[in-house]
Amino acid sequence: MEVGIDKISFYVPKRYVDMTDLAEARGVDPNKFHIGLGQDQMAVTTADEDIVTLGANAATQILTDEDKATIDLVIVGTESSLDESKATAVVLHDLLEIQPFARAYEIKEACYGATAALMLAKRHVLANPERKALVIASDIARYGLNSAGEPTQGAGAVAILVTANPRILALENDSVPLTQNIYDFWRPTGEEFPRVDGKLSNQTYIDSFAKVWEEYKKRTGLNFDDFTALTFHSPYTKMGKKALLPLSDNAHLLEEFEKAIVYNRRVGNLYTGSLYLSLISLLENSTDLVAGNRLGLFSYGSGTVAEFFSAKLVEGFEKNLQTEYHRHLLDARQRLSISEYEKIFNSKGLGQAGVKFSLREVLDGIPFYNKN
Ligand code: HMG
Repeated sequence: MEVGIDKISFYVPKRYVDMTDLAEARGVDPNKFHIGLGQDQMAVTTADEDIVTLGANAATQILTDEDKATIDLVIVGTESSLDESKATAVVLHDLLEIQPFARAYEIKEACYGATAALMLAKRHVLANPERKALVIASDIARYGLNSAGEPTQGAGAVAILVTANPRILALENDSVPLTQNIYDFWRPTGEEFPRVDGKLSNQTYIDSFAKVWEEYKKRTGLNFDDFTALTFHSPYTKMGKKALLPLSDNAHLLEEFEKAIVYNRRVGNLYTGSLYLSLISLLENSTDLVAGNRLGLFSYGSGTVAEFFSAKLVEGFEKNLQTEYHRHLLDARQRLSISEYEKIFNSKGLGQAGVKFSLREVLDGIPFYNKN
């Protein structure tokens, strides 16, 4: 039996900053952001958006009443949670009106969280094929105004429905994880911004890809030629290419890589959701994909946990994508001036933790937590 991704969708904040505007305001050559980092726009959350509103919007796009009656596992991968005890998944389970006899919890390991959730969801459905599992990755990446990380900020959520006989991607049983205790990026409890050693984080990402790929090759006997496309965790879009290029200059993989970063270039870092936004970008922008193609996914969370795994496209996958909706979502956003962005960045949220809202109110943008 095959288990994998039956539906997948993303949601991003309603506002963004153009990277040329940011570069000019910071006295930097815009090419450093557009070419050096590979970012054109950066999503910015306002006081009416948080990981609950982002996650609810992403999931609402894909869930039917039948899904809600069948899901019995909801896992949220996030590193932006502001509640040390109660899981965001419990709030989203309620808002999304999923049947009550379900498990709901949150997973944390930096940007790797959603991949841990996906692997657990896969095992759950393998053991209970009549059930469905919902994975939501939702994060807000903030490094601070004028910081080195500022051009790699972003925000957004991805929702993934995991089922038996999936209609988009069947997950293979070949995953290779790697854990290393390295302080490249971390955020001690109570601190607003992460501590980050940018150069070490880049190098650890590159080394992690090389290590998991080497082990993957050894275990499976597969090579880069066996893949139609690779997708990467994308803190900024050049990162995946920096990891791939020392190992392969396969022209087709590099061509498909550009399709896999179309959306990420316009959003920035989603933390846990970044790899899966890149996957959606590939599926919705590549014109070369056909059923049976093998895709490779590289997940990386600072701290660090990395994982490489593969999935195969299933017949009719293109009919189950949300391409029109996603393109409209990105095009309909409002461009902020840098002074508007800075004002929003410094403003405090409303602090409504613990207050119950209706799904309609949340979709319209009432936040659950005080982000600041
Ligand atoms: P920086 O020091 O501002 O940038 O930091 P730089 O000097 O390294 O330049 C960046 C690139 O722009 C370089 O390209 C320059 O050559 C190029 P590279 O040599 O690396 O290929 N450049 C130009 N290109 C064209 N025209 C120009 C020009 N000028 C320069 N005029 C850094 C960059 C990413 C380190 C910083 O933004 C940062 O610290 N970001 C946050 C950390 C991060 O994103 N790390 C990535 C790996 S870790 C990860 O992915 C996990 C994470 O998602 C967190 C989690 O897991 O939760 C972050």
